[in-house]
Amino acid sequence: MKKISVRTSTPYEVLIERGSIKKSGELIAEITKSRKVAVITDDIVGSLYGETVIDSLRENGFECTVFTFPNGEQSKNLTVLGQIFDFLCESGITRSDIIIALGGGVVGDIAGFASASYLRGVDFVQIPTTLLAQVDSSVGGKTAIDISGGKNLVGAFRQPALVICDSDTLKTLTPENLSCGMAEVIKYGMIRDCNLFEKLESHTLEDVHEIMDDIVYTCIDIKRDVVEGDEFDRGERMILNFGHTLGHAIEGWHNYTDYTHGMGVAVGMCLITDKFAPELSERLKKCLVSYNLPTDTEAPMSELLPYCSKDKKRSYGNINYIVCQTVGVAEIRKSTVSEFERIMEE
Ligand code: GLY
Repeated sequence: MKKISVRTSTPYEVLIERGSIKKSGELIAEITKSRKVAVITDDIVGSLYGETVIDSLRENGFECTVFTFPNGEQSKNLTVLGQIFDFLCESGITRSDIIIALGGGVVGDIAGFASASYLRGVDFVQIPTTLLAQVDSSVGGKTAIDISGGKNLVGAFRQPALVICDSDTLKTLTPENLSCGMAEVIKYGMIRDCNLFEKLESHTLEDVHEIMDDIVYTCIDIKRDVVEGDEFDRGERMILNFGHTLGHAIEGWHNYTDYTHGMGVAVGMCLITDKFAPELSERLKKCLVSYNLPTDTEAPMSELLPYCSKDKKRSYGNINYIVCQTVGVAEIRKSTVSEFERIMEE
């Protein structure tokens, strides 16, 4: 088993091993004296892996209740959050018990936010089952729900007590879901790791499972390093948002329906690179295409920019955006929102 120790305000370990969800009860028993857990999952992941995790928890002496909600971003809202609070209350969860988030980014975000806020904070364990959740959202403590004004606008920083990554769970992902995670993986290569990017260039969506363990470990280790340096997202952590300002805008333009987060990030990385490092664009696009990701959008820039001015990374009328002029090196640039709009519309 590979371990990555994350030294944030509350430290924790990320455990990476194929088949590790079968041992989740044993692994969680090592980090808590409590023998009471509440599992939060969605209907798709619950039907695939719920029994395995619950059997392991019960074999290790845990009393276990389960809350299941419909899969998808549309569930990451105040109504489902309220249902989770009621479920935790009915399950008799106390501050010394454990909440388990079993699923992809939506499950991790909403269960994480419930953990951050229920009883003013209950420890939680992330068991991420998508590539995006394993390499990004399960590590680093960002939790959130969506409101009508936008995605992830209400949330909290709360680090998990443990993350269990089982790359075998990635084998049941649809090609679209795998592509979505690959956009974040390509982002890590662009912002921090030229060797990772070169490795990705020599594979495609069809054979990427051959190097998946290596990819998951490398990306989590990059995220660990960035988050340890800037846990509360006031500086360097913003580099993780390469491609995201325009990516979120494209997702919003599509009403967060037929467009995945990964597709948005892929196009967002291309638009910003076309503008600020055109000599790198072809290389980036070739890599994205080999993972079935888009490189352009039908959305007019003039309709995307209003979404950018609502970006969480703006402050005092300024917007921060990330530029990579060399593979593996990212810089944070700041300009006024109107200057950013002028450059992008040129
Ligand atoms: N997903 C970006 C971050 O964790 O900061």
